[in-house]
Amino acid sequence: MTRMPPIRHFTDLAALDRATLRAILDHGAALKARRGDPGDRRLLVGRTLALIFERNSTRTRVSFEVGMRELGGDVLVLTGDALQLSRGETMADTARVLSRYVDAIMLRTDSPEKLDDLARHASVPVINGLTSLSHPCQIMADLMTVEERRGSLDGLVATWVGDGNNVAVSWIKAATHFGFEMRLACPEGFDPPAQVLAWAQAQGAAVTLTRDPEAAVAQADCVITDTWMSMSTSEDERERRARVFAAYQVNQALMDRAKDSALFLHCLPAHRGEEVTSEVIDGPQSVVWDEAENRLHAQKAILAWCLS
Ligand code: CP
Ligand code: NVA
Repeated sequence: MTRMPPIRHFTDLAALDRATLRAILDHGAALKARRGDPGDRRLLVGRTLALIFERNSTRTRVSFEVGMRELGGDVLVLTGDALQLSRGETMADTARVLSRYVDAIMLRTDSPEKLDDLARHASVPVINGLTSLSHPCQIMADLMTVEERRGSLDGLVATWVGDGNNVAVSWIKAATHFGFEMRLACPEGFDPPAQVLAWAQAQGAAVTLTRDPEAAVAQADCVITDTWMSMSTSEDERERRARVFAAYQVNQALMDRAKDSALFLHCLPAHRGEEVTSEVIDGPQSVVWDEAENRLHAQKAILAWCLS
């Protein structure tokens, strides 16, 4: 009896191993270096990727569309409200049906449960394009960016400042796999989920949590932040969050506590004057445009891995 190999979902960094992530990062860097290579342009010929968006997107949508096309494949962009999902068809049934048409499915949704349902019931690879709990594709691009600038992740000290949100969670998981130090400075009530911190600690990760952004960024190699109002955050929280997070703004005074060579990262979209000042995000330490570009290259490697 021949056994089918497991489906290669890219939904949760914790479910993948370091060697796989390393191979994807290396492939992404190679694809970037030889962009336009005729062999790469045939890599996914005849394959179709469905992109389902239940939330807005600029980078994720465009980078997946362009990336799939650059590998010779085809894409369908589906918005949640245009699908029968919005009229009550289950994610499980949607997964079964789409698996008969396409070769891989990417989902952006608020709900980690919907992503799990999709992956459980799809017979093709599923890619996490962001949930309220994680954003693994973003972190692959971020790691690629840090490696380009710094040469390696070895000995890296990365500091997260602000909301312990979906992007922070994926950073914690990456730090756990690659063994670099991850410091998080989050206000009380906005820590990353306790089970994620417990998972990291159980793996022996060098992940620490503090309330003090100045202490957390001291001599760091990179300083990372994100919006105070994620897409899954209720508008009612806006005023409270603006008050609580004011002391967690990444400004030049905070950056000056990190190493002189420190990089500033932000997944974008950014809110100048809130989580980061213009001086920092538009300044020489900022690598945010490289991060955005690297979504394309990292995701091409993710697609190639899922579909190989
Ligand atoms: N960083 C990111 O995922 O951007 P979009 O929301 O524009 O896709
Ligand atoms: N934390 C942000 C990331 C956007 C790419 C959000 O969830 O809205």
